[in-house]
Amino acid sequence: MSETLDEFAEKLQEQIFEETKKAYGEAVFHRWLTPRFMGALPNADGKSKVTGKCGDTMEFYLKISGERVEKALFWTDGCGSSTACGSMAAELAQGKSLEEIADINGELILKKLGGLPKEEQHCAFLAAGALQEALRDYFNRQRRDSE
Ligand code: FES
Repeated sequence: MSETLDEFAEKLQEQIFEETKKAYGEAVFHRWLTPRFMGALPNADGKSKVTGKCGDTMEFYLKISGERVEKALFWTDGCGSSTACGSMAAELAQGKSLEEIADINGELILKKLGGLPKEEQHCAFLAAGALQEALRDYFNRQRRDSE
């Protein structure tokens, strides 16, 4: 009996998922498929929008309470790797002090994800840059409010 078109499509998708998992590892694969902390915060205390050299954009939103990150969300129009990196950056930022967020950089994101192919490592630096820019925006707002 020949397989239906649906069965064929399902098998093909499974094969693509397996190959992606093998090439990128579990940590990247799961965040690419079901990213955590993806979205926008309308009343963010700090936000950013950064476009990388590749043309992809990453946004970050921070809700700060008592010098700690109450909530961090990201959004990107970029590739699967940028989604995984944004997700990891947002995960790392949850509940952290403002000082601790300053330590979240591209290298740390890559390490936590188990690495990325060389040509996609810039996605981690785009995510870290957007997170740091949102933190800078928060400090700028604080300074303006106190003047
Ligand atoms: Fe540019 Fe992924 S290729 S962020």
